[in-house]
Amino acid sequence: MSQLLALPPPAPRLQMELPAVSFFGRSFEEYTRFFALDPAALRRTAVLDVAAGPSSFTAEAVRRGIDAVAVDPLYGRPAGSLAAQVRADYHRMFAQMRAKPRLFRLRSFPSLAAAEADRRLAARRFLADYDGNDRHGRYVRAGLPVLPFLDQGFSLVLCAHLLFIYAARFDYAWHLAACRELVRVSTGEVRIHPVCGAGGRPYAELGRLRADLAADGVRSEVVAVDYEFFAGSNSMLVLRRDRNLRRAGAA
Ligand SMILES: C[S@@+](CC[C@H](N)C(=O)[O-])C[C@H]1O[C@@H](n2cnc3c(N)ncnc32)[C@H](O)[C@@H]1O
Repeated sequence: MSQLLALPPPAPRLQMELPAVSFFGRSFEEYTRFFALDPAALRRTAVLDVAAGPSSFTAEAVRRGIDAVAVDPLYGRPAGSLAAQVRADYHRMFAQMRAKPRLFRLRSFPSLAAAEADRRLAARRFLADYDGNDRHGRYVRAGLPVLPFLDQGFSLVLCAHLLFIYAARFDYAWHLAACRELVRVSTGEVRIHPVCGAGGRPYAELGRLRADLAADGVRSEVVAVDYEFFAGSNSMLVLRRDRNLRRAGAA
């Protein structure tokens, strides 16, 4: 257990500075915790990871027999260019983490150094897989709120560390359109993590977002998960299409 667990909540104004969306990624193991996934149950299942960045989720999922596809606007660049982006963004993010330890709860890692080593390993695994697979459909260049997939193409759609965290950059209309698009490409469930902003407090427009989605025929639920790294990141938002889902914008 880390002594950071005993610290009080972050001061109201303390938050991560996120001037641009970071090309920063986590491992399959970390995804299973913050999305409460059962890897064995996902074998032969079509899973889409949106805003996947240099996460190793897809590389590791495919090795486990999961039919995973990753989407990010930076895909399509040469591996060397993405490796340079990883170097710059990881340097900036870990410098901030070390400077603002009160923003973190070490439930999943014994120390910030251990978290850093794990995320660097995830990026190396991603880069090794990307180098051989970007031309074979596993890594797709696209960005919310428009995904280049048919309706209901994936059983499970995941999106981590983009919605809500970057609320200063993406407005409410973008968040609603992004959620509708994630639901559109899913037959079953969409899971979004975390449900808090850069300061660890819940997304301010969450009630409005859930009401607008409900009006479209999308059920939503905030589900606690056995994980917290960024303070306040101990839940996910689950979206499920109702059988009688209305198309967004339809009367
Ligand atoms: C912080 S990373 C999260 C990576 C991974 N999901 C994880 O949790 O480890 C955010 C990613 O979102 C990507 N991104 C930026 N704008 C996006 C958009 N409009 N739609 C989808 N992804 C976007 C960035 O390129 C970056 O790789």
